[in-house]
Amino acid sequence: MKKEELTKEEKLKLLTGKDGWRLEDLGGKLPEVFLSDGPNGLRKMQETGFDAMAGYAQNKLITVKATAYPNLSMVACSWNPEMAYLMGSGIADDCIENDVAVLLAPGVNLKRTPLCGRNFEYLSEDPFLAGECAYQYIRGVQDSGVGTSLKHFALNNGEDYRLTQNSEVEERAMRELYLPAFERALEAKPWTVMCSYNMINGVYASENKKMLSDILRGEFGFDGVIVSDWCAVKNRARALKATLDLEMPYSERSYPELVEGLEAGYISEKDVDDSVERVLTLVDKATEAKKTRKVKTTKEERYARTVKIAEESIVLLKNEDDLLPLKKGMKIDVYFDDGSKETGGGGSAKVEPDVEVKGIGKCLQDEGFEVIYHGDAYLTDATGDVQLMCVNANTYESEGYDRRDLLLKKRHEEMILNAARRNKNVVVAIYAGSAVEMSNWIDLVRGVLFVGFCGEGQNEALARILAGKVNPSGKLAQTFPESLDDLPVDLEQEYERAVYYRERFAVGYRYYDWAMIEPLFPFGYGRSYAKFEYSDLEIKKNGETDYEVSYTVKNVSNVDGKEISQVYVGDVIATSERPEKELKGFSKDLIKAGESKRITVKLGERAFAFYNPSIGKFYVENGKFVISVGASSADLRLQGEITVKLPKFTQMSPTDSRDF
Ligand code: GLC
Repeated sequence: MKKEELTKEEKLKLLTGKDGWRLEDLGGKLPEVFLSDGPNGLRKMQETGFDAMAGYAQNKLITVKATAYPNLSMVACSWNPEMAYLMGSGIADDCIENDVAVLLAPGVNLKRTPLCGRNFEYLSEDPFLAGECAYQYIRGVQDSGVGTSLKHFALNNGEDYRLTQNSEVEERAMRELYLPAFERALEAKPWTVMCSYNMINGVYASENKKMLSDILRGEFGFDGVIVSDWCAVKNRARALKATLDLEMPYSERSYPELVEGLEAGYISEKDVDDSVERVLTLVDKATEAKKTRKVKTTKEERYARTVKIAEESIVLLKNEDDLLPLKKGMKIDVYFDDGSKETGGGGSAKVEPDVEVKGIGKCLQDEGFEVIYHGDAYLTDATGDVQLMCVNANTYESEGYDRRDLLLKKRHEEMILNAARRNKNVVVAIYAGSAVEMSNWIDLVRGVLFVGFCGEGQNEALARILAGKVNPSGKLAQTFPESLDDLPVDLEQEYERAVYYRERFAVGYRYYDWAMIEPLFPFGYGRSYAKFEYSDLEIKKNGETDYEVSYTVKNVSNVDGKEISQVYVGDVIATSERPEKELKGFSKDLIKAGESKRITVKLGERAFAFYNPSIGKFYVENGKFVISVGASSADLRLQGEITVKLPKFTQMSPTDSRDF
């Protein structure tokens, strides 16, 4: 359909949804295009009949049942972008079966603090790791003929006041921390980008011309449809002026506001036509894809995929005296098996699993262990060899509100303490969407695993890890602090009208490095049943800002395992404030028992650059850089130095003596 075939009225109607989830179809003139959440599995809302619970005639919105995948917060812990691809590709099959054209995912907002209610559906505190995962996730969905919506652009890092709050952030922190994951994900060419609700430096994202037109389109080169978050548009004419193409859901205000904007000359016919063109291109994309896209997997294969991803994502945090893996014949006391069935947080990312989620007890029995169930009691004497405690955060994690603390449910903590007082072999499995405090009991237990929200197959994966059939290989994508006092951000400082990103780069490990605070478990930390040693660092220069970092990782144990090695870069003497080090590369490698692997990670210009607001772009300053290779952000095994010497005319701040 060409825009010339539309009347003026039809054009204006096309710039707002038909209802909650569909694009306008102009009375059947255009095919239906259905948009649906969500990042961790399909959540297709559908209207059913009378909602008896509500006691009045309203359509009760329910979602179809679909495969519930490991939440993106856990896929990032796999540090294996191929898992993100597999997940995206699998969700696409549920979309195809349910005639969904665009999946409203992934969300890549940075985990500025572990208290954000939506951390379970976001990826990481580090933009490099988040970007790599999001890039592959989008490719996985779109290679299957389903579109995506990269969200929420931008600076939506809290939930309590997200609908109105003004995110005040200075340029460098925004460019170096909050936008790079979007930049990287855009290289996968998402069909749409969703703007966030909040203001950014005083202007709502939905009408922020600098963010949407100048940066997203002008600098990042995005030429697809910008869709609003649901009900995020404040005035349709102002949003159109900022090049927001599609307001969702339908709003009766939209049409008159556009007419008013046109009549006042505030927006032009060209503004309308440009957006109409992009929306029609989206409709064409969806229509064309629908002709050829095919379901590639069965429901069973999708379930198996969730297990595979969970196996790569679950993080082994503690394993004192190698208690794990469990030995054959061991009897396991399982406490609060129900807590192990939590597969995700609340809100638009909530998936209704299409299978009954098996508890960890059943899965351990399937692995041949004798299991004694103890509910969430903590008075019974245990008779098993190992006491497995399934615990959850004390507040339900969800879109729409943030957590107030990092605590476990009080009863769960008491359960752990009671078990630890009576038994020596306590293992804690944490089913939560983000960091939790453990300081009251961490020294009293022998094993800890962060299962997170790892989808409908999470307990099959965990049981295989506990049984030693799978060697755990996940590593934290977010720092676990000792306590709330160790956060760089005091949420009490934030209030309805504004959140000030005063901490600049001090987010996650960047903060703990700077403040010299040792977190409970650092970014990039995770244990294995194997043991790895690093050696022979070699840094090969291919250009002033083009290096190959090579090193050897040896598995010095007797079990095969996968190791995630991480490459950090630090600018030793910069004329601008910079974090001590930043993740600029990583590699996950299967290394068999006793074997070694030579690994090479490439570093390009952006690995050394910082954003210079005076010239409005990323820039590399001459000087010394430290390149570190480690098993976590706090466990650097190898270090080397390089010196960048770019031609003088490229330098903004000459640093040699002649210039002083
Ligand atoms: C919600 C969420 C967004 C979701 C949309 C549709 O408010 O912020 O992530 O895709 O509305 O449910």
